[in-house]
Amino acid sequence: MLSGLSLLLALGAAAAAQRTIQWTFVQNGTSGVIPVELITLSPTLMLMYDRADGNPLLLPDGTRAWAALWDLTTNTNTPLDTITDTFCAGGAFISNGTLVSVAGQPLENPAQPPADGRMGIRLFGPCTSATGVGPGCTVFEDPAQIHLAVTRWYPTGLRIPDGSLMIIGGSNFNTFYNTGPLAENSIEFFPSRPGEEGTVRPSQFLLDAEPVNMFPRSFVLPSGHVFVIANNITMIYDIATNTETRLPPIPNGVRVANPFDGTAQLLPLSAPLYEPTVLVCGGSATDDSRPTSNITTQDPATDQCSRITLTAAGVKAGWTVERMPETRILTESVMLPTGDVLLINGAHTGYSGYPSVSDSNLTLSNAANPALRPILYRTALPAGQRITQNGLPSSTIPRMYHSSASLMANGAIMVAGSNPNPAVFAPGGPAKFPTEFRVEYLTPDFISNNAPRPIIRSAPTQIGFNEKVTLKVSVPPSLLSGQIQVSLMDLGYVTHAQHSNSRLVFLEHTLNPLTGTLEITTPPNNNVYPPGPAWIFVVADGIHSEGVHVMVGDGGNPPRAAQGVAVKFNSL
Ligand SMILES: *[C@@H]1O[C@H](CO)[C@@H](O)[C@H](O)[C@H]1NC(C)=O
Ligand SMILES: *[C@@H]1O[C@H](CO)[C@@H](O)[C@H](O)[C@H]1NC(C)=O
Ligand SMILES: *[C@@H]1O[C@H](CO)[C@@H](O)[C@H](O)[C@H]1NC(C)=O
Ligand SMILES: *[C@@H]1O[C@H](CO)[C@@H](O)[C@H](O)[C@H]1NC(C)=O
Ligand SMILES: *[C@@H]1O[C@H](CO)[C@@H](O)[C@H](O)[C@H]1NC(C)=O
Repeated sequence: MLSGLSLLLALGAAAAAQRTIQWTFVQNGTSGVIPVELITLSPTLMLMYDRADGNPLLLPDGTRAWAALWDLTTNTNTPLDTITDTFCAGGAFISNGTLVSVAGQPLENPAQPPADGRMGIRLFGPCTSATGVGPGCTVFEDPAQIHLAVTRWYPTGLRIPDGSLMIIGGSNFNTFYNTGPLAENSIEFFPSRPGEEGTVRPSQFLLDAEPVNMFPRSFVLPSGHVFVIANNITMIYDIATNTETRLPPIPNGVRVANPFDGTAQLLPLSAPLYEPTVLVCGGSATDDSRPTSNITTQDPATDQCSRITLTAAGVKAGWTVERMPETRILTESVMLPTGDVLLINGAHTGYSGYPSVSDSNLTLSNAANPALRPILYRTALPAGQRITQNGLPSSTIPRMYHSSASLMANGAIMVAGSNPNPAVFAPGGPAKFPTEFRVEYLTPDFISNNAPRPIIRSAPTQIGFNEKVTLKVSVPPSLLSGQIQVSLMDLGYVTHAQHSNSRLVFLEHTLNPLTGTLEITTPPNNNVYPPGPAWIFVVADGIHSEGVHVMVGDGGNPPRAAQGVAVKFNSL
């Protein structure tokens, strides 16, 4: 029989699951560059990387900017200079808090910067100023000294348990299908691992995933292994032994890497066993042997979301399939502090990539039929009840290829970009989906209404592994009967429907509501949360606080030695 208290808690949890939501889009400001890549840096700053032709935002010398710092307090952008071309790069924050962006576009115009970006390594921060002016707030590049071993475009950057960057796959040149000599089917690391300087590790998996293998969706599991999805196949990669182990393919022929961009998230990890489950939504089930001359902007994307638990039993049980109310390609997924996943932007039909499919010259886009209304995936609910659009608004702005969305520290979502066109195209011209500079915010009702929210009053700026740490919080009494969650999050490096490094670990905690003392237990070790920057959010009854920024680990340069304690876990 339930005691009074646990009954109350059970009712509270049920109420959280059924909370009615009423979110809104607000448009404010224009970005001046197209945020092909969007990264949450601080409570006030977002970093954007783009290409550099036709952007209205200019550097002080009058040339066009291809990177910028967006100030959330003024809704304006400050141009940043870079040496190499950042277009379609990948990246992550590494263990010392530096944001690393790698690879990019080949030389576009020999008469103008930027230089060939394919071997580029760009370091940014830590930038501690609120306005982005000051030490660390510029892009540092030294292409002669610090560069990749090989040329890459469209690679994935993933922070691994030693706090360094794993760089996976990519292409060498502008292509729809990534095949043959164009494809860079290999893995390398930044910094290079001892004995591997200037070399790469060839990947049979990436070769087998041709021609839909750019921006392979990748996650660090609590075992320290890396799970990778490309095209319709999946694998576990063991970094230490350089071995690839195949896992079940995505069901029903659905393909999810670029140029058939579906989106994927590692669902929240929780004690005691940190069992990892991966969610994959959208993409396309088109046969990838059909040439571009035989596929169209009107080909339906998939409505499939699939999930698999990456334990021995989970893999035996295989993928389970859920259906979205609409088909989705190029869709972004944004992990929320509650553990729910927002699916936003993209289209119902067509593909990623520059105009290249048979009818794309008519609209200058490879996709059509924009998906204007987000979808919420409510992770904790039973299958069949998780997917909803109730309470979510429609935008009026198509956000097609080269759009992005990221959670901000205030708990709302920044939505920006869209440029499926071969260059910057203004409205009214030949592009049906012209280049989009307007910025929108998708804001939960409790933020727009100034409803009572949990507040983190103080927290350390650095935490170790397997430690008990005390925060000062206040939780509105009206929310105390609901579930309390403490979410440690990496908000990711967002590009091409890929939220690389997105991660949420629910921390064990004890709240004393009378004293406002919240004792948390930090992640047990660097496999559960690879060392690097994070955000802590407190969620009460489904309503999240603003996030506070924290460094997890000692903040030293990679590689870091194993940290914390080995715990029993259940993960491949
Ligand atoms: C847009 O943002 C600016 C700067 O924060 C603010 O002053 C202005 O009121 C906002 N406008 C709208 C329509 O929300
Ligand atoms: C995956 O795609 C390949 C072609 O790229 C196809 O031969 C194979 O049957 C597909 N596998 C599944 C399980 O759909
Ligand atoms: C693709 O090829 C098939 C088989 O030849 C043909 O039936 C179909 O009409 C083609 N579709 C397009 C859009 O070219
Ligand atoms: C689209 O137009 C470009 C430039 O005119 C041309 O090179 C390309 O072949 C066309 N593509 C298709 C699919 O017709
Ligand atoms: C962070 O580490 C990288 C890799 O060792 C190094 O290149 C970079 O300078 C470091 N950043 C800072 C701010 O020290």
